[in-house]
Amino acid sequence: MPDANPPAGGALAFFIDLQPPEGDFGADVLAGLTKPQKTLDSKYFYDPAGSELFDAITEAPEYYLTRTEIALLDAIGPELRERAGPGAVVLEPGAGSSVKIHKLINALDAPSAFVGMDISGEHVKAACEEIAADYPQLTVGAVCHDFTQPLEVTALPLPQGKRLVFFPGSTIGNFELIGALDLLHVLRGWLRPGDAMLIGVDLRKDGAVLEAAYDDAGKVTAAFNYNLIKRINAELDGTIDASALIYRAHWNPYRSRVEMYLQADRDIAFTVAGQRFQLREQETIHTENSHKFTISTFQDLAARAGFDSVHAWTDPDQAFSIHWLEVGGEA
Ligand code: TRP
Repeated sequence: MPDANPPAGGALAFFIDLQPPEGDFGADVLAGLTKPQKTLDSKYFYDPAGSELFDAITEAPEYYLTRTEIALLDAIGPELRERAGPGAVVLEPGAGSSVKIHKLINALDAPSAFVGMDISGEHVKAACEEIAADYPQLTVGAVCHDFTQPLEVTALPLPQGKRLVFFPGSTIGNFELIGALDLLHVLRGWLRPGDAMLIGVDLRKDGAVLEAAYDDAGKVTAAFNYNLIKRINAELDGTIDASALIYRAHWNPYRSRVEMYLQADRDIAFTVAGQRFQLREQETIHTENSHKFTISTFQDLAARAGFDSVHAWTDPDQAFSIHWLEVGGEA
């Protein structure tokens, strides 16, 4: 419902803190290092240094994803405007790239509201305040929330208007397939018949191109991984010798994903929070996956989550795709 007293143009209309449970860095690291295939949870990549490194990844020459998606958003702007119609309410889980959300808002026909959501309250508030300042006509809200968890969207003070979930960046590819399906279900739950989701999905391609994208010559993606080791050493009293770990990006065609690892180049032993661990020469710590789809493998996944695939756009090289998914039924 529209606010009876709309805030002065340029200010946040609301900030709602749903207090997502904080991850337990120490417990999660110890659990991951105890598994037969050692893992580290990629959500811990994003401390302030890690977030800066991530921004640098998106600018690496080999990392085609961000620039391709941004160019594609530009190219399809008029079609997005047409499909969304006037007065859309845009919801962005994981409010991330300011460039992309600006492109979308600029493309749309007088959108009525934007709501950004993120697990970091500070981050989402700052990002949404910037958008509120740039678009005084737009009702802008921020929600501190873990988007993998259910959300009672009806509890948000949203205006009328077609809802459009915006989920760029091929973030969906960082989940295991079962987790990606769960997440699509959760996001579908925010929508009513006739509402839509606009989602960016990276496409399957030559393995060498993919491995280069995730192991850039400037070694930014490697530094992003090493930053997690630094964090463990600093915050969990760790003694991991990062010089024994080689960063590797491996294209796994059977699972259609790039797998990221830190691999020991010799036997090493270390402690974390007083607990002892060993890595044998060549043993790996798995840090991240990035699944790659074809248009139809992604459309199949979306269908299993209850979406109708209305349209998919790709760049001229077919490197990246953006999908318009809809919830069927009476609007
Ligand atoms: N979703 C993007 C991708 O898979 C960005 C990303 C997430 C990423 N985690 C990453 C990029 C780790 C490099 C390394 O490409």
